[in-house]
Amino acid sequence: MHCQTLQARLTESRELTIAVDAELGEDVHVILASNQNGNGRKKLTPGRDYLAPSGKVVDQMDLQALIESSADMWLTAGRFAEQFERSFAERLGVQYCSLTNSGSSANLLALSALTSHQLGERRLRPGDEVITAAAGFPTTVAPIVQYGLMPVFVDVQLGTYNVGVDQILAALSPQTKAVFLAHTLGDPFDVARVRQICDERGLWLIEDNCDALGSTFGARPTGSFGHIATHSFYPAHHITMGEGGAVVTDDQHLFRIINSFRDWGRECWCAPGSDDSCRRRFEHHSGDLPKGYDHKYTYSHLGYNLKVTDMQAAVGLSQLEKLDDFIHRRKANWMRLREGLSECEEHLILPDCTEGSDPSWFGFALSVRPDCGLTRANLTRFLEERKIGTRPLFAGNIVKQPAFTERNITYRVVSSLTNTDLIMNNTFWIGVWPGLDAACIDYMLKTIKEALTCGT
Ligand SMILES: Cc1ncc(COP(=O)(O)O)c(C=O)c1O
Repeated sequence: MHCQTLQARLTESRELTIAVDAELGEDVHVILASNQNGNGRKKLTPGRDYLAPSGKVVDQMDLQALIESSADMWLTAGRFAEQFERSFAERLGVQYCSLTNSGSSANLLALSALTSHQLGERRLRPGDEVITAAAGFPTTVAPIVQYGLMPVFVDVQLGTYNVGVDQILAALSPQTKAVFLAHTLGDPFDVARVRQICDERGLWLIEDNCDALGSTFGARPTGSFGHIATHSFYPAHHITMGEGGAVVTDDQHLFRIINSFRDWGRECWCAPGSDDSCRRRFEHHSGDLPKGYDHKYTYSHLGYNLKVTDMQAAVGLSQLEKLDDFIHRRKANWMRLREGLSECEEHLILPDCTEGSDPSWFGFALSVRPDCGLTRANLTRFLEERKIGTRPLFAGNIVKQPAFTERNITYRVVSSLTNTDLIMNNTFWIGVWPGLDAACIDYMLKTIKEALTCGT
């Protein structure tokens, strides 16, 4: 009886899928662009709608995928998650992908994996140094501190907002064990050379590719250079599943360790809902456990549960099909802004890409030149009042954030963080996401020029 009710419900949900499909019809093939006001309009009107710095672009295909995955009522990670992991790894040209519930979780998993005892002498231990940037997103740095490692902060270049190779070389010490860097706002750092430096010295490279999906360096996708790379599928990012992230690697051993940390720390690698994939479930002998202790409940690590649901994965899969179009539109918007602002260099430091790279831009960074008669505060206020969204470059200088100043965190700074401080005071970014069209970009250009002319 119970089963019949359930079956009826499932059939109902599948009928609902079809009904929704029919009801929405052609109309929803048009983009639903939700900005932070959640207005869900098909097209943003500059001057009337807030042009958020980032946003998601979702359509009927995504909705259909969401309904289909819900109709399965599997709920946890299942067939859509497996398919996403395969497709995403293939897209990046890497062997393994582990889906997780956010880019921050992906960063936590990447760093956690490198602390595993299973890596022997190569594992990261408290006190080891990890080279990173102070100008960036906080959850690139947080796991370093949380595992008792020492963040070593290096300055970044203005324009690319990335760490240069020389700065990394200057930061090396006998305690250095890893480099953990993000491709700032989609612009790749010189990841090929950084990987080479790491390989020559036996260091790990974690590539935070959260803002750079679709970028390439020397024609190879970013996210495929690091021993481990991380991704975010939060709505601000190149594709979205609402909340979501991924960790990728070419190393099967690291892949197993990442999954162990993600899935409660367990040793067993059975997918959710399946048992005894190894056919030796009661034959293992680990730790001081009795021989044959259920492998499903054997824990190699003190881990977490950071899995996704199949609904998230289904939306991600559907979004992945549109990634090339999204990248194209991001690049076109960035280029239109860059060309349109070329006459404003007297007041603004314009963004640049790292040589050898082809960025899939996350945002368009601008730094107000010191002593040019303008301030960032005045300029961003002027833009916000005219419904153009602005954001600082994430944490600015993270060591100046209360998360650092209110706690006794040990870190090392290499030479000075002069540019990082300038970024904290003078830099902001505006949107290039695919929900913005040429009319929105032209309005942004016109408004910025108006601000510069009238001196805000
Ligand atoms: C560079 C970088 N890393 C990590 C993250 C965290 O991703 P999530 O918001 O999915 O946790 C972000 C978020 O925007 C980011 O920009």
